[in-house]
Formats: sequence, C-alpha cells, structure tokens
Amino acid sequence: MGDFARRVIRYRRRHGRRGLPWQRPRTLYRVWVSEIMLQQTRVDTAAPYFRRFLRAYPSLKRLAEAPRDEVLRQWAGLGYYARARNLHRAARMLRAAGGRLPRAVEDWRRLPGVGPSTAGAIVSLALDRPAVMLDANARRVIARHQGLDPAARAALWRRAAELLPARNAADYTQGLMDLGAQRCTARDPDCPRCPLRPDCRYAAGDRPVRAARAKAAAPRRVLWLLVLRAGGRVLLRPRPAAGIWGGLWSLPEFDSRAAAKRWAGAHANGLEWSEGEPLRHRLSHRELVLRPLRAEVGRQRRAAFGGEGRWCDPREPGVGVPAPVARLLREAGGN
Ligand code: ADE
Repeated sequence: MGDFARRVIRYRRRHGRRGLPWQRPRTLYRVWVSEIMLQQTRVDTAAPYFRRFLRAYPSLKRLAEAPRDEVLRQWAGLGYYARARNLHRAARMLRAAGGRLPRAVEDWRRLPGVGPSTAGAIVSLALDRPAVMLDANARRVIARHQGLDPAARAALWRRAAELLPARNAADYTQGLMDLGAQRCTARDPDCPRCPLRPDCRYAAGDRPVRAARAKAAAPRRVLWLLVLRAGGRVLLRPRPAAGIWGGLWSLPEFDSRAAAKRWAGAHANGLEWSEGEPLRHRLSHRELVLRPLRAEVGRQRRAAFGGEGRWCDPREPGVGVPAPVARLLREAGGN
C-alpha cells in the first residue's frame, strides 16, 4: 500500500466523522440509501431524513412494497426527487429479481440512480472491498495531491484506481470523503493540518492557474402559486411524474398572475385576492421565485373545483410537498 492510501486510512481512524446514522450497522441496504441521499444533500441535513426513512422502510422488501407516493412523502424536503423515484424503482427491480442486493460494482451500476462513483462508494463502504469512489470531494483531494486538472475525468479515474489500496477499502473511501470535507475543502483548505501534505503538489504551491470565472447567475423563473382556502383546507394538486418536484403535490402553479386568477375565476367568481411576500427557492440549475396569491373560496364553493385536486389540511397535508410549498402551507395553517 502506498503512502497516500496509508495516510488517508490513518486519518480516517483518528479524525474521521463518527456516529453518523448509516455507519452502524453498516449494511448494503443502509449504505445504498444513505449514498443516494448524500449525492446532493449535506451530511447534517440528510441524517434526520435517513433515520426517518429507515424507520419507515427498514428493509429492501418494505421499500419495494411501499406505494411510490408514500416514499416521495418521506423524501419531501430533501429535494432532487428523481433520487427517490429511482431508489424506489431500483428496489422494485431488485425485489422482482429475488430480493438480493448486488455485491459487484457492475451490478450496482445497472440500477437507476447509481452512477460509477456511488456504486464504488456502496461496495467499498458496505463490503470493505476495493472499488473506486470519486465524488466531488475525492476528486478535489486527488486532483490537488497529484497535480491533476480536476476537470480531466478520465485521468482522475485512472489515478484513483491506481491509488486504491487492496485492503481497508471502507476506511480509505470514507477517509477521502472526510478529508475533502474537513481538510481539503474547496475554498479554504487546511494544508497545515492535512496528513497528505508531505507530498501534495497543491500544498507545494503547484496549482493550476485559472482565470477566475464569475459564476453565471442562475436563470430565474417566477411561479405564481394559488393558496385557495375553504373551510380551513387548502387546494393541492399532484404534479406530473417527471421534472422538478415530480410525483409530489403542490399548490396550483401558473406562469402569471393573470393566468392564476383566470383559472380560479373559472371555478369561482368574485374572489378577493391578496398577494404574499415572494419566496426565493434555489434549484441546482435555476432560481425559482414563488409568488403566493391567496383567496378565501368558502366551504360551499369547494365542490366547484371538483376534480382539480384535493382539499388538504395545511398543517398535515398527508401528501409529499416540496419544502417551499410546505412553508406556504404552514403559513396558511397558522391563521
Ligand atoms: N458524501 C457521500 N457519501 C458520504 C458519506 N458516506 N459520508 C459523508 N459524506 C458523504
């Protein structure tokens, strides 16, 4: 084993993050669920969701048997809902194929939602077998240490495979993640306290010179959300299965104030409107500006909206809703 792997493993054992809920017991199923959650969610945010999810679905069987709507409700608030849809679809595929979780990286990769890095993470963390994990943290650690361009994917994968130790794969993989999060951070690396410093190209001052690039502003989209109340309930509608918030429920959404009022007016006329404070919500690729538009419909006119959705208790909607919509519902339920 080379110095690099030895140092990463020793660091993991002395300074790595402990007590995370997916670390004990470290089963394939639990590690799989946690790695999917951690693809786009920070450790502190994911931890309580993970505990709740595992209480609801303690096994592959229970996850596969759960209705998709319910799985999405458990995921609500974590964002990137394609992860939950893929996880659920993969659970059903595995169950249909006999209910055993794969043990080989290639078999994990065939499952929806599992890319090469996630497959490597699952196999190395859960089975302690050597497999390359190269998430954003690991990529940064290795690129800096080796003096490689972090954008040169193929070269980084090759180097990552060369650095991989034959033993202690779980500690090595987790150690790379821990170093990336605790020492070799993107903005403010703590080289003086990093165990990889003795032969790190980056610490030696060997840094690729890059013109500073201003991050392009995310395109902005305004969505008008109808908060229609009737008898203490609020109208929610299911969203299409694909796209952002796919499979969740939401307030009726419109591209303009006029379109929102026209739609509501077609079901109930003479509504009195009030506008709430706009709410900003950051997605990976754009910024949403949510503009709530409120009206009291009155219990008698609920039926006029017929099959348009479901009138839900805003404090306990009983369906999965995206985080910003949950916030608007809490406001609607609070008065
Ligand atoms: N990010 C992805 N997987 C992780 C893990 N197992 N621990 C901490 N951060 C992670």
